[in-house]
Amino acid sequence: MREGQAAVIHRADYQPPAFWIDTVELCFDLDPAKTRVLNRMRLRRNPDVPVQPLRLDGEELNLARVLVGGQGTSFKLEGGQLVLENLPEGHEPFELEIFTTCAPAKNTKLMGLYVSNDSFFTQCEAEGFRRITYFLDRPDVMASYTVLLRADRRRYPVLLSNGNLVDQGELEDGRHYAKWVDPHRKPCYLFALVAGQLVCREQRIASRSGQEHLLQVYVRPGDLDKTEHAMNSLIDSVAWDEARFGLPLDLERFMIVATSDFNMGAMENKGLNIFNTKYVLASQSTATDTDYANIESVVGHEYFHNWTGNRVTCRDWFQLSLKEGLTVFRDQEFSQDLAGEASARAVKRIEDVRVLRTAQFPEDAGPMAHPVRPDQYLEINNFYTVTVYEKGAEVVRMMYTLVGRDGFRRGMQLYFQRHDGQAVTCDDFAQAIADANPGSKLAELLPQFKRWYSQAGTPRVQASARWDAAAGTYTLTLGQTCPPTPGQPVKEPVVIPVAYGLLDDQGRELASGLHVLTQASETLSFQGLQAEPVPSLLRGFSAPVVLEFDYGDAQLLALLAHDTDPFNRWEAAQRLALARALRFVAQPHEPVALDAPFVDAMRGILRHPTLDAAFKELVLTLPSETYIAEQLEVVDPPRIHAVREAMRQQLAQALQADWEWAWEAHQVGGAYRPDPVSSGRRALAGLALTHLCLAARASADPVWPGKAYQRFKDASNMTDRFNALSALVVSGHELARPALQRFHAMFKDEALVLDKWFALQAGAPDRGGNVLPAVRQLMQHPDFNIRNPNRARSLIFSYCSANPGAFHRPDAAGYVFWSERVMELDAINPQVAARLARALDRWNKLAEPLRGAAREAIARVAAKPDLSNDVREIVTRALA
Ligand code: PHE
Ligand code: ZN
Repeated sequence: MREGQAAVIHRADYQPPAFWIDTVELCFDLDPAKTRVLNRMRLRRNPDVPVQPLRLDGEELNLARVLVGGQGTSFKLEGGQLVLENLPEGHEPFELEIFTTCAPAKNTKLMGLYVSNDSFFTQCEAEGFRRITYFLDRPDVMASYTVLLRADRRRYPVLLSNGNLVDQGELEDGRHYAKWVDPHRKPCYLFALVAGQLVCREQRIASRSGQEHLLQVYVRPGDLDKTEHAMNSLIDSVAWDEARFGLPLDLERFMIVATSDFNMGAMENKGLNIFNTKYVLASQSTATDTDYANIESVVGHEYFHNWTGNRVTCRDWFQLSLKEGLTVFRDQEFSQDLAGEASARAVKRIEDVRVLRTAQFPEDAGPMAHPVRPDQYLEINNFYTVTVYEKGAEVVRMMYTLVGRDGFRRGMQLYFQRHDGQAVTCDDFAQAIADANPGSKLAELLPQFKRWYSQAGTPRVQASARWDAAAGTYTLTLGQTCPPTPGQPVKEPVVIPVAYGLLDDQGRELASGLHVLTQASETLSFQGLQAEPVPSLLRGFSAPVVLEFDYGDAQLLALLAHDTDPFNRWEAAQRLALARALRFVAQPHEPVALDAPFVDAMRGILRHPTLDAAFKELVLTLPSETYIAEQLEVVDPPRIHAVREAMRQQLAQALQADWEWAWEAHQVGGAYRPDPVSSGRRALAGLALTHLCLAARASADPVWPGKAYQRFKDASNMTDRFNALSALVVSGHELARPALQRFHAMFKDEALVLDKWFALQAGAPDRGGNVLPAVRQLMQHPDFNIRNPNRARSLIFSYCSANPGAFHRPDAAGYVFWSERVMELDAINPQVAARLARALDRWNKLAEPLRGAAREAIARVAAKPDLSNDVREIVTRALA
């Protein structure tokens, strides 16, 4: 280990803290250049741990003074930690005062206390509090907080922290103060403060029990008219958690504050959630339907953390999925419940599964594969992953499936009865759900079920069928395997709930049920059938696995036409499209020509008299390039891109009349509303417009591009406007250029819209290698700023992580660009740099010469001296 290099942390090494901190009084004199922090704590020795020195975490702090019981004391600074050896003996509480300063204006990492647009914000999860003061920065140390904020009154009129405002007033020299007391004990990662020129929308609500609460959404002046949807989402969230889980709001005041400089989506600080503006601000002219849906789900997510995360928190960071997997499950259920009808719920489910399969499955198959509850990390920031979040949510969903809706609610109640106010583990959660449901499959199989927490990798379920016509018996064999992942060569069978149905050739359902697969191989048989049925397996995506079944086209077409399970109906279309894409990819010298049955089936769905528009849009969207790539041993991204584009072009031309009909038939009149029905109609109309512009490309017919341009100009909402712009860009029409220019001019003062403008260009289909030069040029644009994470993501990530066809260039120029940006970002914001570093996770599967070039680019980054732990961990694992 080099000097200053951190060591790998292991879950097995967990030790309880040597001291408890009962109370914390923090006093801030806020100043961008030099903020003074006085931290007065009451501590006591943990009687369950052998006597040892107190070691407080700290990072980039200037230490001025340390007092114990009001007296000066000796201390050491060791590897960033403040070490105190001469503390009072015995178990009596004692007082420790630490006086430090920090430089928020220089904090480009956006962890700890930082400045954005001349306001102060904090971000403490996971280990940001140590950048504010010396502390036991670990989630199992829970304390009561009192916070005094002092700042210039004119520059920082609003002073916020967790809990309740108990005092405020004037000071000398134009300064003022506010004092906040949080009535709930909390780990320090939930601490927050905000100070600045902000305005708020507020709403008083009464809970079911009659309790009154004040809800507030704080934004910069000028953005207030964009907060209505966030506020409504918050009101819905409060009502939902009470109705569905009996969990009320436990605070008089609940605040959301938006900032445009934020590393992640949002943060659940107790009573003072801090959000990326992307998940707060919306107006019909600046936000799309997708933005509205995302705001609803992120507001819900952070609010639901108030119970799952804050009231019961994590013992250590290896347990992150305890709060994140559970809270994602809860926000998914929230969005489904608000969507209402079964078909709208199914659409949400399909979207969630699509995220899991395009982002988490590759993670689980690559060098960063880790269990939902990881065993080790170098930098915890690298483990805020789709595995911990989305796969973690699927694990909770399987428990829900195994114990049922009421059983799950009972389990949640028991979980809070047992653990309210505690810092616990994933085991504690699973145990509570199982104990509340004695006799359930979950209770019976709990130790085996918990392998979902400890084993990495996506299990594969191999299904095969035998039809005995003479006996009328249908036999299904289900097997399971799981490929090796780094550090886990051998896997044990897991518990896999397989929801299934059998259909006859008329589409009637002959049988249905839930089979809980536990062995490496099991057999199910069905008697008394007249003819060979079509199996609909893994309905609703009942487990996060890859289902392998040798479906024939006829079976898939039958499922697409008749399955009562909307998820598998969609899945049938995906399988049909995927099989074709894989065949074309494998035959580089054959033309990409779609067969009539497939095209007719797609037309049948598009023209279907009763299916929802949103569902049709999902069915008619081909599997993503990333998803296609995941099915292959050796990946040539430009080839996959070419195949998918060619398939799309054929669907555009073969269904032209149908797309025209779809466009005309799905126009939405009246006032803008982002509800599922209207959103679905706009989405389908947008997909139709893209295909019509693509068809026009082949025929050089200017009519549809002209209509798209017209729609782009007169659209009354951002969804229609952006879809029209995107249709022009995606089809490569010459009108794209003036449209992009006009779009920029219209929205030059709307940061979130400019992000879309950058992202659209960086994600455009590659035509002769044109995207990278455009991206390099956009880096020079006056509106580009690499220090702003949203802007960096919109340009750099949209190219490197979301545009494989353009990024994986045979001349390796994409990789050169990537390595330059990773190193540039690492010096500014390691957390963001490490995310970008993951764009080359799957380098090992690339076809040569891409593979060698990618490896070289990663090695170049790895060789840089002074890499952050964040990036070092990613590139080291990639090369291992
Ligand atoms: N805990 C936040 C969430 O998922 C995510 C987050 C992690 C935000 C780390 C900031 C920093 O709700
Ligand atoms: Zn979360």
